[in-house]
Amino acid sequence: MAPSTMQTAAILLGLATVHTTGQRLQCPWNPPADGLAFKMLESNIARGDGIENSGASTGFIELGIFQQALRESIAYTNSTTQKKKWSEYLQNSTLSAVASLSNATANAGLPLDRLSIGTSMIHQYESTKDEAYLPAIHALQDSVLQQPRNENGGLWYYQNRNNLTAYHNLSYADGMFSYPAFAILAANHTDKDLFGPEAALSQLHSLYDICKDDYNLLVHGYDASKSHAWANPTTGASPAVWGRALGWYTLGLVNTLSLLPHSSPQFASLKSLYNTLIRAQLTASDRSLNIEGSYGVWQIVDRPGATFAGHANFVEASASCLTSYNLLHGARMGWIEDESVRERAVLAGVGIFQNVIYEFLVEDGNGTVSLNGTSSVASLSGDVDFAYYVTRPTVLNSLIGTSAFILASLEVEKIC
Ligand SMILES: *[C@@H]1O[C@H](CO)[C@@H](O)[C@H](O)[C@H]1NC(C)=O
Ligand SMILES: *[C@@H]1O[C@H](CO)[C@@H](O)[C@H](O)[C@H]1NC(C)=O
Ligand SMILES: *[C@@H]1O[C@H](CO)[C@@H](O)[C@H](O)[C@H]1NC(C)=O
Ligand SMILES: *[C@@H]1O[C@H](CO)[C@@H](O)[C@H](O)[C@H]1NC(C)=O
Ligand SMILES: *[C@@H]1O[C@H](CO)[C@@H](O)[C@H](O)[C@H]1NC(C)=O
Ligand SMILES: *[C@@H]1O[C@H](CO)[C@@H](O)[C@H](O)[C@H]1NC(C)=O
Ligand SMILES: *[C@@H]1O[C@H](CO)[C@@H](O)[C@H](O)[C@H]1NC(C)=O
Ligand SMILES: *[C@@H]1O[C@H](CO)[C@@H](O)[C@H](O)[C@H]1NC(C)=O
Repeated sequence: MAPSTMQTAAILLGLATVHTTGQRLQCPWNPPADGLAFKMLESNIARGDGIENSGASTGFIELGIFQQALRESIAYTNSTTQKKKWSEYLQNSTLSAVASLSNATANAGLPLDRLSIGTSMIHQYESTKDEAYLPAIHALQDSVLQQPRNENGGLWYYQNRNNLTAYHNLSYADGMFSYPAFAILAANHTDKDLFGPEAALSQLHSLYDICKDDYNLLVHGYDASKSHAWANPTTGASPAVWGRALGWYTLGLVNTLSLLPHSSPQFASLKSLYNTLIRAQLTASDRSLNIEGSYGVWQIVDRPGATFAGHANFVEASASCLTSYNLLHGARMGWIEDESVRERAVLAGVGIFQNVIYEFLVEDGNGTVSLNGTSSVASLSGDVDFAYYVTRPTVLNSLIGTSAFILASLEVEKIC
C-alpha cells in the first residue's frame, strides 16, 4: 500500500532532524501513540493468547516470544497492579508447558523453538524458586545433548521423527532465537560443546557463515546434506532472505548480547556480528524507503517492490516489529559505536514501527487492538523458492506478530 503524502513528508523531515548527542538518543518524530505496548498486551490477555501452547507448529516459539514480551512489560510498568497481574499470567503461561516438556527423549523430537520456553522457565525459576519448573528445565537440557548435529557441529533445527526425509540436516536461522540464550542460562550443564557462551557463539557464527549472502543478510537456513532441490550445491544455503527468520536470528543475537558480560571475548565478537548484520538491514530498509516511499521489512527482505511468478512481495508485520526492536534495542544499549549508523538505526527503527501502526494496527472499537499482516509459517521441508514465501497467507493477531509489536513498542517508548 502506498504511504500517504503526509507520512512520506514526516519520514523525510525526520531524516533531516534526527540527531544524537553522545549515547543519548533522540526520537526522530513525536512519539507514535504512547502506551501502545501495554494496550496490545492487555488485548492479548483479553483474547486469552499465550496462556498455553496453541498447538500450532509455531506454538513453542509463540510462547517463547510472548513470555519475553511479558517479562519486558513487567519490568517497565510502574503500576503494582499491572506487575502483579502480568507476573501471574507469565507464571501461568510458563507453568502450562512444564508437563509436556519434562521428557528429554520426546523433547529432542521437537523444534529448537522449545528452548525459548526453557529460557522462560529458568528466568521464572530464578525469580520464584518454584521447583515445579525443574523437571522441564532438566529435560530440556538433556534434550540438547540428543539434538542431532551436522558435520560442522551445527544443530539440526528439527528432528521431526514423523518426517525425517523432509527435515534431516536442516539448520534454520529461526533456531537461533531459542538456542543461544538457553545455552548460556543452562550453565549447570557442563558440556562445553553445547552449553555456555562459547557454544552459543559457535552456533551463531557457523550458521551465519553459511547463510550470509553477498550483502551480509541471512537466508532462511541451509541443508548440510544438500539433498533438497533448493540447496545451493556448494554451501547448502536456501535461496531467499525471509524477513521473520532474519528477525529471529537477530533477536537471538540481541538476547545473547544482553546475557553476556561486556568484558567477555564472546561479547566483543557478537557485538561485531550484530553491527555487520544491522548495517545490512539498514541498507535494506533504505531501499524500501527509496523504492516504495516508506520504511518496512519485506517478506523477502532484499527485494522490496518485486514480483515473483506474478505474486507481489509485501511488507510483513512480524519481521517489521522484530527488526524495529533489534535496531532500537542495540542503539539504546550502546552497542552501535559508529554515530551515523546509530542515528540510522533509530530513524529506521522508529520509521519501521510507525509504518506498522499505519499499515497493520487495527482499533477493534471495544478497547482492544489487533495486529494484521503477519505471515504464516514458512518451512524449508518442501520445495521453496521466492514465490513460495510471497504466497504465504498473512493472518490477524498471530501471537508472534503481537508479541514482537509489544517489544518494538516498548523500545520506541523508551527512546521517544
Ligand atoms: C515510570 O516512572 C518513571 C520515573 O517517574 C518514568 O520516567 C517512566 O516513564 C514511568 N514509566 C511508565 C511506563 O509510565
Ligand atoms: C492463573 O491461574 C490461576 C489458577 O488457574 C487462576 O486462578 C488465575 O486467575 C490465573 N491468573 C491469570 C492472571 O490469568
Ligand atoms: C518419553 O518419550 C519417549 C519418546 O516419545 C517415549 O518412548 C517414552 O515412553 C517417554 N517416557 C516416559 C517416562 O513417558
Ligand atoms: C547429517 O546429520 C547426521 C546426524 O547428526 C550426521 O551424522 C551427518 O554428518 C550430517 N551430515 C552432514 C553433511 O552434515
Ligand atoms: C544450578 O545449580 C545450582 C547450584 O548447585 C542450584 O542451586 C540450582 O538449583 C541449579 N539450577 C537448576 C535450574 O537446576
Ligand atoms: C472486541 O472486538 C474484536 C474485533 O471485533 C472482537 O474479536 C472481540 O471479541 C471483541 N472483544 C470483546 C471483549 O467483545
Ligand atoms: C487484514 O488484512 C487482510 C488482507 O489485507 C484484509 O482482508 C482484512 O480485512 C484485514 N483485517 C482487519 C481486521 O483489518
Ligand atoms: C513430509 O514433509 C514434506 C514437506 O513438507 C511433505 O510434502 C510430506 O507430505 C511430509 N510427509 C509426511 C509423511 O508427513
